[in-house]
This record gives sequence, C-alpha cells and structure tokens, in this order.
Amino acid sequence: MPRPDLIERLAAQTAERAQAQLLRRLRTITQTDGAFIESDGRRLLSFCSNDYLGLAQHPGPVAALKQAADASGVGSGSAHLICGHRREHAALEETLAEWTGRERALLFSTGYMANLGVVQALLERGELCVQDKLNHACLLDGAQLAGAALKRYPHADVEAASRQLQGQTEGCALLATDGVFSMDGDIAPLRELASLCASEGATLMVDDAHGLGVLGDDGAGSITEARLSERDVPVLMATLGKALGCSGAFVAGSAALIDGLIQFARTYIYTTAMPPALAAATHCAVNLARQESWRREKLQHLIQRFRRGASELGLPLMPSRTAIQPLLIGDSQRALEASRALEAKGLLVVAIRPPTVPQGQARLRITLSAAHEDAHVDQLLQALQSLRLAHAPV
Ligand SMILES: Cc1ncc(COP(=O)(O)O)c(C=O)c1O
Repeated sequence: MPRPDLIERLAAQTAERAQAQLLRRLRTITQTDGAFIESDGRRLLSFCSNDYLGLAQHPGPVAALKQAADASGVGSGSAHLICGHRREHAALEETLAEWTGRERALLFSTGYMANLGVVQALLERGELCVQDKLNHACLLDGAQLAGAALKRYPHADVEAASRQLQGQTEGCALLATDGVFSMDGDIAPLRELASLCASEGATLMVDDAHGLGVLGDDGAGSITEARLSERDVPVLMATLGKALGCSGAFVAGSAALIDGLIQFARTYIYTTAMPPALAAATHCAVNLARQESWRREKLQHLIQRFRRGASELGLPLMPSRTAIQPLLIGDSQRALEASRALEAKGLLVVAIRPPTVPQGQARLRITLSAAHEDAHVDQLLQALQSLRLAHAPV
C-alpha cells in the first residue's frame, strides 16, 4: 500500500470545509484610519479589531517605535538568553510588573507562545490541568503540549471545576481560565475560582488578553478589578496586541515563577526576542493606557450605548460588559449572510463559526473601541435593525 499523500489529504480536508460553508477567508487590508479600514478598494467601518483603546495608530507609540528603531535597529538579533534582551525589554517588563501588581514580568513574542510556554513549563506529563471549555485555543494546546491530563468544565461552572479537581487529588494541578472570554465577552468567575484553587491547593492561571487595558481602575485588568492579588492568582498572562494596540505578550507573577520560566519555558528560550523598538512602543502604549482613563470611559459609554440600542431592537445580545459584544445567530450560514449584508452597507463585522465556537453557536463578533464615535454605534445599530436578526433561531 503506498502511503497517502499528506498535502492531498489536507486539500481534501479543506474541500470538506468549503463544502460545509465553513472556509476561513484571508482579507488584505490596504489602509487603516481610526475605526475605518480599506479592503478591496472599499472603505469599511470596522467592528472587529481588538484595538479596544484605539492605541494602534496613536502618534505616541508610533514615534517611540521610530525613535527606538533609529537608535537600535529593527530586529533584536537573537533570543533573550543569547544577546537579544535589550534595555527596552527590561524597562517594559518592569512597568508591566508594577502595573499588574506583580513582583516580576517576562515578555513573550506572542500570547500563543506565552500560554504554550507557561503550561508546558509548569505541568509534567499526566498532571491535572482543569480549564474552562471556552478557553482560548492556545491554553488548550499548552495542556496538550505538556501531556497533562486535561479536564474541561462547562463554561464558568465552578462546581464542575471543583468536581474535576476532586477527581484527581494526588499531584500538582493547574486551573487555567480566560479572564474575559474572547468570543463571548463575559468575565470568568475569578473570585470563586480563586477560592476553589486555594481550598484545593491548585494553582490559578488567568489569561487576561481581553481584560488588560479595559477593566480595572487604571486598566490593570480583570484580576485587579476582582480585587485579587498575586497570591490568589499566581500566574497572570496578558497580550500586548489587543487594548495596547501593539504585539506580543507577557507573564507576570512571583520571582520564582519568572526565574523558572526563563529556565524551562521552551517558547521563551528557543525564539528570537521581540524587536526592541516594539517594546519601546508598547511601553509608551502602557503609559497611555494607565494614565489616560478617558479611553476606558469612552469605551464603556459606547458599550452601554450599543447594548441599550440592541436591547431596544430585540437583538440577541450576550451577557457581556466588555468591548466584545457578540450577537448570537446560531446557524453558520445565517451568520455569514448577516456579515455579508453588513459589509454591503459599509460595515465590517466578522461571522465567527465552528470550530472557533461550539456547533450551533455561530455569531457576529462585534467589538467596540475608543476609536469609535456615538454615530458609528448608531450606524451599526441601524444596519443591524434592517437585517431582522431579532427573531433569529438560536
Ligand atoms: C484569550 C486569548 N489568549 C491568547 C491569545 C493569543 O495572543 P496572540 O495573538 O498574542 O498570540 C488570544 C488571541 O489572539 C486570545 O484571545
């Protein structure tokens, strides 16, 4: 029997996905201008970016990036542990630790790599990793990479998480959750999870990719908002490519955690350090996010305006008070059609379909940003009204 050809098999899988109308499509953006993007020669008002504070095009980080690139070039030249760790990285780590109230912080090139690296460094084969079913893919992949015994509890179900921890009381255990769920926008029951972990002797890890910059008095995220300390949540991970408008990620916690990650997190050790100019730009974005709280306030105002309007229209809102405001459509084809109809009206709102979300839970993932204005939200509501989603079967 000849071996099956791998590329042919992949092509067949892609064809199957196309057949099921679930093909993912790449779109090239030719221009960005505040909340607007240009694609295929059309200017669209976008409601899909994670640039929640509108910092991605802010002149401060742009100038910081240029200045640092002029001074020290583009690439870092090597991994952190060889000769890639520059003063820009060190300064950013210090500020991130201070902002999040942690002893130390460590930069990673992406959030995906941070989660893979942390979970793989912490857990040994067969050890328990309890996770919310709706956690981001990279947390789940981290558990698989570690060879951990992965148990996924129904979304936000603390009792189910408790049963899973009690099902394997021997050995170390990690409970990992998103702080803000990326496709739903709701916030994890962090205080309940923290007390569960305390009573079960498990370590709590929170991925605050969508909470940092948005939640908490100075934007320090969902953990600060929940008034939890480093003791309650020993492992905090957050990304720099969302509310901060840059790219990359960090893990924050005790010196013992960070020293250990430097030794054992393979996605930290065996990869090129992020460009130092990017670290300088991110540092500037962090200062803006912390000090200029009007962006958070404006975002909250827009969120409330959208939710009020959507509820008056009877739209299928989900229970979220964050920048992620999905409308649950259910059927993938209907979600896709709604997204296309919005695009025809000049609005970019992506349809999120399985396997990114569970079967039968396709949705329009609407995200709001401080770069939006009231009139933009009103335009979106008007367009949504004309789609007659109010009675969509869910
Ligand atoms: C909750 C969550 N964690 C991690 C990531 C990965 O971060 P990055 O894009 O920096 O790889 C994302 C999204 O990108 C996310 O939504």
